[in-house]
Amino acid sequence: MKQAIGKKYGNHSRLSIIDAPIPKPVGDEVLVKIHASSINSADVETLKGIFLIRMGSPFKPKYKVLGSDISGIVEAIGPLSTKFKIGSKVYADLSEWKFGCFSEYKVVSEKSLRPIPENMSYVDAASIPSAAILAYQGLVKFELSSKHSVLINGAGGGMGTFAIQIAKSFGAEITAVDNEHKQSIMSELGADYVYDYKEVDFSQDGKQYDLILDCKGTRTIRKIKTSLSNFGYYVLIGGNNRSIIATLIASRKNKKAKQNISVLFAKYNDQSYLEQVQKLYKEKKLTPTIDSVYDLTEIKEAWKRFESEKFTGKIVIKL
Ligand SMILES: NC(=O)c1ccc[n+]([C@@H]2O[C@H](COP(=O)([O-])OP(=O)(O)OC[C@H]3O[C@@H](n4cnc5c(N)ncnc54)[C@H](OP(=O)(O)O)[C@@H]3O)[C@@H](O)[C@H]2O)c1
Repeated sequence: MKQAIGKKYGNHSRLSIIDAPIPKPVGDEVLVKIHASSINSADVETLKGIFLIRMGSPFKPKYKVLGSDISGIVEAIGPLSTKFKIGSKVYADLSEWKFGCFSEYKVVSEKSLRPIPENMSYVDAASIPSAAILAYQGLVKFELSSKHSVLINGAGGGMGTFAIQIAKSFGAEITAVDNEHKQSIMSELGADYVYDYKEVDFSQDGKQYDLILDCKGTRTIRKIKTSLSNFGYYVLIGGNNRSIIATLIASRKNKKAKQNISVLFAKYNDQSYLEQVQKLYKEKKLTPTIDSVYDLTEIKEAWKRFESEKFTGKIVIKL
């Protein structure tokens, strides 16, 4: 089978395609023939070796084969596997199951997988899990309703394009922040107001939001607090080390305050979140925004596009 590997830290140039033997499922594992996966910031940050990643694995990427989103078909089952049949269509996020989806096959415990719902394509199924679970977990920290206003910073990326649609499904008023090229798609997805982050500083717009979901951490906690309503929530999803540490410190200091400041640590093993997201997909309230689809052999190009930060939504790898 073909798979993309990255043995050393770096950018897209570290990736290469190799031939490897097809693994055999043991115990409760199943062998999945992968039809599609998608690139997430976790893949790019792991290969790059950002500070937090290098703390756990100083010399080389923790996983040689990256890719956490999987959609495909069960091709063989282990002796203790009972959940799926050969031919079942499955999907999931495998960040907590050692990644490994930029590959034609993957063996993994059946516990990690869910059946792909009818009418969901392999491409959609590979775009949804990681980014939509992240968005859902960030948003449901606050009990959203039509009375509330949400600001999503970095709303045109993988997580953000789902976050807009999920927040809309709760009826909330949405302000979406991203670059000038992503303004119209953010409006189409349901944003009531859109800001270009290069033109507008959302923390200076004089508004107060009930929930700020932030995948960039570009404002100080002091500014964030002035942009939050009295009982507002700030959820930091991603950012540099400084913003993560500052937010963690503020979350401890802030325990008795009315406003709630926190850093999200996603729980990918809890399938209830994907179930909620799947429900929205079935109700046609959530559709993945597919930026582009590449073949596995073109993974360097796909990665380069992700690194260029000129994409909107999800970049899919087809196998
Ligand atoms: N908390 C967790 O457990 C967890 C788990 C996985 C991932 N994450 C983090 O989640 C974050 C979001 O992931 P993602 O996949 O959605 O990333 P993404 O697809 O790269 O999206 C980020 C978006 O933010 C925009 N942006 C860049 N600079 C900005 C600024 N100054 N202000 C506002 N928007 C800006 C980018 O636009 P441009 O095209 O202009 O750059 C892009 O559209 C990442 O930082 C990742 O590390 C967290």
